[in-house]
Amino acid sequence: MTDMVKIVDPHASYLDCQQDIDAAAQRVIQSGWYLLGKELKTFEQAFAQWCLTDHALGVANGTDALELSLRALGIGQGDAVLTVSHTAVATATAIVQCGAIPVFVDVDAQRYTMCPTHLQTVIETWQKKHSEPLKAIVPVHLYGQPADMPAIMDIAAKYDLPVVEDCAQAHGAKIAGKQVGTFGSLASFSFYPTKNLGAMGDAGAVITNDSTLGAKIRALREYGWQQRHLSSLDGGINSRMDEIQAAILSVKLNHLHKDNQRRQKLANLYNQQLGKLKQVTLPHVADNVHHVYHLYVVQVDNRDELRQKLSDQKIGTGIHYPMPVHQQSAFKKYLPHWDKLPVTDAMASRILSLPMYPQLSEEHAARVIDAVAAHVG
Ligand SMILES: Cc1ncc(COP(=O)(O)O)c(C=O)c1O
Repeated sequence: MTDMVKIVDPHASYLDCQQDIDAAAQRVIQSGWYLLGKELKTFEQAFAQWCLTDHALGVANGTDALELSLRALGIGQGDAVLTVSHTAVATATAIVQCGAIPVFVDVDAQRYTMCPTHLQTVIETWQKKHSEPLKAIVPVHLYGQPADMPAIMDIAAKYDLPVVEDCAQAHGAKIAGKQVGTFGSLASFSFYPTKNLGAMGDAGAVITNDSTLGAKIRALREYGWQQRHLSSLDGGINSRMDEIQAAILSVKLNHLHKDNQRRQKLANLYNQQLGKLKQVTLPHVADNVHHVYHLYVVQVDNRDELRQKLSDQKIGTGIHYPMPVHQQSAFKKYLPHWDKLPVTDAMASRILSLPMYPQLSEEHAARVIDAVAAHVG
């Protein structure tokens, strides 16, 4: 019987370092210390070093990491924050959680990340039409590809807007050798189990080079405490990363570089073979960029038909994302606040995520390629 080609496989990632993960979890269980302890401190130091940044602060998940970053910048009720609609809904949720209004910018048609030209237009239009102050820009490094940070940082400087990078899908991605997450004032990461660096539950982190912002995140993640039981910062929540997740992430961090290399190898294989099919639009890799392929996303006409054919052949696929955030009913109330997003709107019906994770075998990747070619070729 043919076995299933999974789209992602967090269990395979566990099996890759099973002994070390089991030992790490046992160590925490036996220690009797389960939150905000030495495992978190060790992981925070290692992750900061890996990202080439001064501070990393562990939190409960990637959504909180973004919300707390915005709160640390003083963003709250009635402020407006620029981001993209072509992203995980969590990006916009974090903005709304602060009481702010998400203002959507279209994405670049090739890169799938925030379009700097449209960003400039949206800022100018917003300032003419709306009274709510623009307070920050949140670009998302989607699918493992960095957004065009040099251009976005130029616009941010022109309008004096801080930048918070959403790095949930881009651990280790770079532009001209510089890691994503080190361009803006702060950056948020998710360690959701399927991410390039995935925990075995929920976890996230904020990174920053700014000690004052780092100290604020430390307080905000625990009720605004700067001293135990004394909340001195407004806007604090409970968002602690637990010690078991921290210990597991320390083990997995040692595999991240090799895992990203494996993702690139698989992407090259897909590119070489699927590149022969003119009906398939491959992921574009921007110049001077290190893409870490959190997802391998192609575009095709008749996407749903292809998806069904692949499913019939036991090949898992995904759609990231089926409905842009600005079309989702929970966000409709902000509708008068945004411009048209033609690229975002056009993509949703054509994108398809093919299986991609470091432990995907070449045989399984070949099955995916053959099945796509047989259907569209
Ligand atoms: C782009 C993006 N931002 C934010 C998040 C939120 O992360 P989490 O699920 O850890 O809250 C995710 C994860 O799905 C994501 O992909």
